Amino acid sequence: MIGNAFLLISTLFIMACQTQQDNHYEARLVGGPCEGCEAVLEYDDRELNQVDTLPDFNNQGQKIKISGTIYENDGKTPAEDVILYVYHTNQEGIYEAKEDATGWGKQHGYIRGWMKTGKDGRYAFYTLKPAAYPDSSLPAHIHPTILEPNGKYYWLGSYHFAGDPLLTQAQIDPDDPRGGTSGYLSLQKKNGIWVGTRDFILGKNVPGYNH
Ligand SMILES: [Fe+2]
Repeated sequence: MIGNAFLLISTLFIMACQTQQDNHYEARLVGGPCEGCEAVLEYDDRELNQVDTLPDFNNQGQKIKISGTIYENDGKTPAEDVILYVYHTNQEGIYEAKEDATGWGKQHGYIRGWMKTGKDGRYAFYTLKPAAYPDSSLPAHIHPTILEPNGKYYWLGSYHFAGDPLLTQAQIDPDDPRGGTSGYLSLQKKNGIWVGTRDFILGKNVPGYNH
């Protein structure tokens, strides 16, 4: 009995040390409840880069590139070491999970990726423009989640696409958007790929951010 308790305590201790070693921060959800925001923590440190190509990019569909700058709370200083997680549906509007999916990949599907900003605060990702959910009035969208180097993480409003007949005015031009910007993208074709930009300001319009 005592041996078992000792084993349990040692195991918990080792797990706690590993978590600390891996993350270097204490992750804390802010900005209200968020189902699946923990997915932002599922990155592989060795693969983090300022630019990511999502796994669907070579499938059939409209190739897009989305990029921008993430700023500190002052809205001016580029924010370094910020992790941005994005995920979206496939060309049928489904969050398509692979058989070997792990963690939130089971719900968010395989079309997801993580980026980490450098000194210039820049991020970019390549993917296919997603389709809207089947039998739904929601427009096509990409979900972003932010993880700051201090451990705060929170959801931001989705990216949307100009010309989508399902878009509402509130989605195009939201009041007080989280992260400071609307996710409405007007894509322009450059060098054979459709590009859109969106910047973020850390914590902007995120309730409870400073508590
Ligand atoms: Fe969604």
